Amino acid sequence: MTVHATFDTGLPGVSPGVYGPADFKAVSEIAHREAGIVLPPGKAMLVYSRLAPLVRDSGCQTFGAYVLRIREDAEERKRAICALTTNHTFFYREAHHFEHFAHEVRPRLIEQLNRGGKVRIWSAGCSSGEEIWSLVMTLLGPDRSQGQRIAQCDVRVLASDIATHAITKAEAARYRQEDLKPVPEALRRAWTVPDGAEATIAPEARALVRFRHLNLLGDWPMAGAFDVIFCRNVMIYFDNPTKERLVSRFADKLVPNGHLYIGHSERVTGPALDTLSNMGPTIYARRAA
Ligand SMILES: C[S@@+](CC[C@H](N)C(=O)[O-])C[C@H]1O[C@@H](n2cnc3c(N)ncnc32)[C@H](O)[C@@H]1O
Repeated sequence: MTVHATFDTGLPGVSPGVYGPADFKAVSEIAHREAGIVLPPGKAMLVYSRLAPLVRDSGCQTFGAYVLRIREDAEERKRAICALTTNHTFFYREAHHFEHFAHEVRPRLIEQLNRGGKVRIWSAGCSSGEEIWSLVMTLLGPDRSQGQRIAQCDVRVLASDIATHAITKAEAARYRQEDLKPVPEALRRAWTVPDGAEATIAPEARALVRFRHLNLLGDWPMAGAFDVIFCRNVMIYFDNPTKERLVSRFADKLVPNGHLYIGHSERVTGPALDTLSNMGPTIYARRAA
């Protein structure tokens, strides 16, 4: 551990040296226990820079005092956990997932809807929404009238994250046109409404999605099972036992033949392999019975 009392804390009126190894250790234990997030020693400065504004706003004079605060105050702990999350995401990230979904999964879901059935989709760890909007646009497809018919069926999409600031942005559904560029043009034309340098996701697409603050380590209040779960680039922050427990819970939450998409550097290990079959790079399906 290299963080000692030598750097400027950035806290007005507080001398350097108010954040040290014990504070970092305490914060990483809390992040791990509460959210599964592993913060190795190399992240000590990152923790400092992300929490310093909160320490300042809380009126605490030292990180030590702030650690005591977050131990006792659940709301402040929630704020600290939010600040410690990494929310990097972008539209059409890992394009092969959307292509697989469009060609291998969407036709079956449309048949399901045509027979009067329902479709349930979950983006777990949706961050600021780029993933879920990419997926909803792909589900609706490039043909607006067909997409409008799909949107009138029993389709419900859940987008959840532990970071409230990210969910607020996802729900606003407003992005720079520049950021939307990775989305195939036909989908962008069909499901975004340009407004100067920005664009908003079309109302038909927005109407399908419910946003929820949800800690994946906690209880999941959703009663039904999902046809598709995206949980990408979330488990990279977790240790192996947490990943394995989570993937087993996802497997239990899929309908037979339901699909789980995970991040490019992640893979399924452990008991979930008894239930899930590998369908392609970082794509899994729940075996039927
Ligand atoms: C790097 S982003 C990934 C966003 C998107 N899935 C993607 O692949 O582009 C990781 C997200 O996981 C969320 N996250 C981390 N730990 C979580 C937990 N315990 N419960 C729910 N969400 C969590 C973070 O808040 C963050 O928004």
